[in-house]
Amino acid sequence: MAPRNIKRIIDQIDDLPTLPRTVLKITELVNNPKSSARDLASVITDDQVLTARLLKLVNSSFYGFPQKISTITGAIVLLGFDAIRNLLLTTSVFDMFSSRYKDQRIIQERFWDHSLGCAIGAKVIGSYLRYEKVEELFVSGLLHDIGKIVEMLFLPDDFIKVMALAKRQNSLIIVAENEVLGFTHPDVGKLLSEKWNLPLKLMNILEYHHQPELAGRFVRETSIIHLADILARAIDLGSGGDNKIPALNPEGWTSLNLKLNMLEPIVHEIEREFQDINWVVTGKM
Ligand SMILES: [Fe+2]
Ligand SMILES: [Fe+2]
Repeated sequence: MAPRNIKRIIDQIDDLPTLPRTVLKITELVNNPKSSARDLASVITDDQVLTARLLKLVNSSFYGFPQKISTITGAIVLLGFDAIRNLLLTTSVFDMFSSRYKDQRIIQERFWDHSLGCAIGAKVIGSYLRYEKVEELFVSGLLHDIGKIVEMLFLPDDFIKVMALAKRQNSLIIVAENEVLGFTHPDVGKLLSEKWNLPLKLMNILEYHHQPELAGRFVRETSIIHLADILARAIDLGSGGDNKIPALNPEGWTSLNLKLNMLEPIVHEIEREFQDINWVVTGKM
């Protein structure tokens, strides 16, 4: 991204949102090798909403633990520090961005379904590839288009123009963003990652999910999100804000080493899991 454009984002989105204090504290604890499960549990249990949410998530079919987990320490031991941080981060991000305006809310719900579709897609592709940290892929999928939500909330008039232009010229949002704003949602995602001290891998995924060939040592993870984004659109899970399906990046595809005939079972699995999980993450019961 050209320096001129970075300045433009900062000028226009003058106050990028900050994470809630508890989540920042949790991120700090997770980054510190000296923290114990007890330290982490005490920060989480100070916040009743986070505590309830976390227990609901770990007891959902998504994780499939056979016994009921009734304490936060138990949840931390079973899931691990990183997974806990990621879960709390994701739910907080979506809370923070939930809009008060009805029109925006409808678009946001469609975005949310798209993000969830991409998250599940990434998790399913990851398990076919025997990728170790599929939960990390899930979070990356949920957050991959977070820049669009920021644009919608902070630059609502410009974002309406972006959506209208994408529709008129039948292009991807990212093309229209470049024309209207001079920067794109991956650029905004990168800035947010810096501001929130997110892990480098996640930052790379947000920045390069439309150009996985540029993701360097994270090319594989970024390509998984890139493919999951395409599949979520192909099977109509929510909407990414435009009606186009991005072309599959050849280098990204090669880096995955996936067989073409695996795509069909992957898609079926995504559809099945999408039905199962939607209520868990959105809290609709
Ligand atoms: Fe995107
Ligand atoms: Fe997307």
